Order: sequence, then C-alpha cells, then structure tokens
Amino acid sequence: MNSLTLKGGRPLKGQVKISGSKNATLPIMAASLMSSGEVILSGVPELEDINVMSDALRILGAKVKREADILIIDSANVSAVEIPEHISRKMRASNLVMGALLGRFKHARVAYPGGCAIGIRPMDLHLKGFRNLGYELIEEYGFMEGNGHSTIGKEILLDFPSVGATENIIMAAALTPGVTIIRNAAREPEIVDMQNFLNRMGAKIRGAGLDTICIEGVDRLGGVEHGVIPDRIEAGTFMVAAAISRGDIYIENIVLEHILPLIAKLKEMGLEILLCSSGIRVVGNNNNYRPADIKTMPYPGFPTDMQAQMMALLSTVRGTSIVVETIFENRFMHVQELRRMGADIKTEGKIAIIKGKNSLEGTNVEATDLRAGAALILAALFADGETRIAKIEHINRGYEKIHQKLLGLGADIIS
Ligand code: EPZ
Repeated sequence: MNSLTLKGGRPLKGQVKISGSKNATLPIMAASLMSSGEVILSGVPELEDINVMSDALRILGAKVKREADILIIDSANVSAVEIPEHISRKMRASNLVMGALLGRFKHARVAYPGGCAIGIRPMDLHLKGFRNLGYELIEEYGFMEGNGHSTIGKEILLDFPSVGATENIIMAAALTPGVTIIRNAAREPEIVDMQNFLNRMGAKIRGAGLDTICIEGVDRLGGVEHGVIPDRIEAGTFMVAAAISRGDIYIENIVLEHILPLIAKLKEMGLEILLCSSGIRVVGNNNNYRPADIKTMPYPGFPTDMQAQMMALLSTVRGTSIVVETIFENRFMHVQELRRMGADIKTEGKIAIIKGKNSLEGTNVEATDLRAGAALILAALFADGETRIAKIEHINRGYEKIHQKLLGLGADIIS
C-alpha cells in the first residue's frame, strides 16, 4: 500500500505543466477499436487507468504501443468482442468499449463495470440508447451482451446528460446506418474531443458540446493522428493548490474555456487570477478569502470532479460555505478524512456545511477514491505538521507524476 507524507505550511510557488486529459483519452482509446487503420494519439498521460484500458484493447486483439506520451493503437486484427470481468471491475470506463464493439462488430459482451466509492454507477442509460438503435441487449450472469442484426439510426432522449452514455451511444451510432440524434446529451469538453477524433477517422458527427448531437452513420473508419486536450480537472486541482497553500503558481497547457467555472468560483472567493497566453497564474498569497457556495452540475456547471478539492479549500476559509453534490450519490467520502484533520464539516444527504478554520492538523488519513485523495493532498499542504496519506494508488490513477509536480512547486514531501 503506497502512502505519501508531506509537511504543510509552505506556499507552493513556480510553474506546472498540465498533462493530457484522462477522461478524454479513455473514450478515444475505446473509439480506436472502430478504426481499420493505425491510430496515433499524442499527449497521452502515463496513468494506471490508461494502462488498464490498454490491457482491455490488447485482450480484444489490438496492438498498443507507448513511446513517451505517444500511444500507437492498431485495431486491424481485433476480432474478440468480450471484455473479461476482472478488467471491467478494475475500471468503470472499460464499459466504453461496448459502444465501439457494437458499432464495428454489431456484437459485444462486457461485464458490469465495478461500482466505486462514489456511487453504484448504473448502465441503464447506455443500454437504453443501444436498444433504441435496434441492438438486442441481454443482461445476465453479471454481463451485458448486445447484438445488432437490424440497427438503424434513431432519436434518443437521455433522461440525464450522462457523459459515458453519450460517448457510448455516439460510438455505436457512428457505424449504424441512418441518422441518430441524441437529445439531452452531456456537453463535457471530452465529448467534443472524441467527436473531433472520430470525424478525423471519417465519421460524420455534429453538435458535441451542445445538448443535441447528430450522428450520420458511415460504412468504415480509418486511421488518424490526434492530440488529446489538456486535463481540466488536473488544472483545477493545481489552481486550488495555489489557493490553499497561499502560494503563487503559473499553470500552463490549459484550455481557458474548460476551466471557466473554477476561475469564476476562485475569483468569487477573492483570489487573483491572471490570464496569460498559454496558461493562467493563480495568486493565493492573501488570507482574507471569502467563503463560497458550490453546487455541482453537468458541464458547463461546476464540475463534480472538483467538489472534494474545493471542500478542502473551503475548510480553510473562515465563514460558512455550503456544498451540494447533485451528480453522484456518495461523493462525500473525503469528509470523514478531512474531519480527522480538524475540519468542521457536517453532511446531510447531498449537502455539506463547512465552517472554515484558520488551521488544520496534520495526521494519518486515507484516500478513498481519486478526487478524495487529491483533496487530502491539498489539505495536507495547509495543515500544521505532517500528514500521511495512505492508498495513494487511487491518486496515481488520475494524476500523472503528481509527486514530481508537487516537489517542483516546493512542496515539503517527507516520503
Ligand atoms: C464521467 O463518468 C467521468 N469519468 C467522471 O470522472 C465524472 O465524474 C462523470 O463523467 C461526471 O462528469 C470518465 O469520463 C472516465 P455519468 P461517467 O455517466 O460517464 C448516473 C473522475 O474522477 N448514471 O455522467 O460514469 C450516474 O450514476 C471520474 O475522473 C445513471 O444513472 O458519469 C451518476 O450519478 C469520476 N445511469 C450520473 O449519472 C447511467 O446509465 C453521472 O454519471 C449512467 C450514469
């Protein structure tokens, strides 16, 4: 079990370069299965989740090679259509291969993805979309099996703008005859990146980034070169690192539009944020931040993936702040750990009430999931004394070289 121990109280200063987006890379890797040619991805972060997806593609028969931040995927010889349970349980995003396999082979068998700390993570919206397209879906023995003998483009209305369901349906529809329209689609930037990738392969998709996406089915998809977008959640996490450590960080390799909700919230709290050509500078060296209220929403609202990190910051800002988590039913696992550090947080269902304090105490805590772990690192940067964070493998799933990046900003890492 890996752990990270760091001593708080030192303002982080300097420059950090954001890596490629985990949540853009994963669906694009799944979509690579639909190509009869070679796919070359650049800006791919070195993360455990990317390794798991690479293993899933190899099990299906694809060749996957990494050269630094380049991933070369050749799916010409893919023939299998089943993802084994141990892969599905390891990472929820492995369910994204289902849409790709149905699109290309009209057949797929994928085990239910493992739930995780933040919620049961059902697949009903994905399956409803596939059924709308004419795929027959059988759910038994923990597996979802789809067959498409007579599929045709249809209009699909999502009950909720699910990111994964939107991505999976786009992939299944891209090689389905006719026109598919997804209404109430998720609008996340990672979906726009996937649309751009698929269109370079020869797909005909329009509207990603809006709530209505139109997909005109084509016969085949070819090879392509594509650079993935920067990770907006990693960027947000380092913005909060500057704020909570009362430091001054220049964050480069960002897409400004993708982090507007974070910029707005931190400015509302009184932080100084300077927009530069290829990055932003977050100046956190004052102590009179204002408390703030946060309600997580689908993009372009405040991202649920930044909720835990912001709660850590709000715990250090005098006054009362309220956080409402509307996306996942169990995404307050970090609260109990922050309370061990002396944070004054009370939860009632999906609402958390934070009474910020001038200090937190370093102690032993445990990462329960990816973003909760990030929140604990942030709280440790502020706390008095040393904090030992156990199970940091959760954090390594989604933050590339986090240790080196923190050291580069002057964090006092003990081990
Ligand atoms: C993606 O997960 C992200 N993961 C998550 O990031 C992110 O938190 C989430 O979108 C919301 O933005 C990747 O992109 C790999 P959803 P996804 O389907 O697609 C419910 C991180 O930290 N739902 O939009 O699984 C679901 O239970 C991760 O990087 C259904 O009810 O999210 C949840 O309450 C965590 N039925 C809500 O919708 C379904 O069929 C949002 O889920 C699908 C989802």
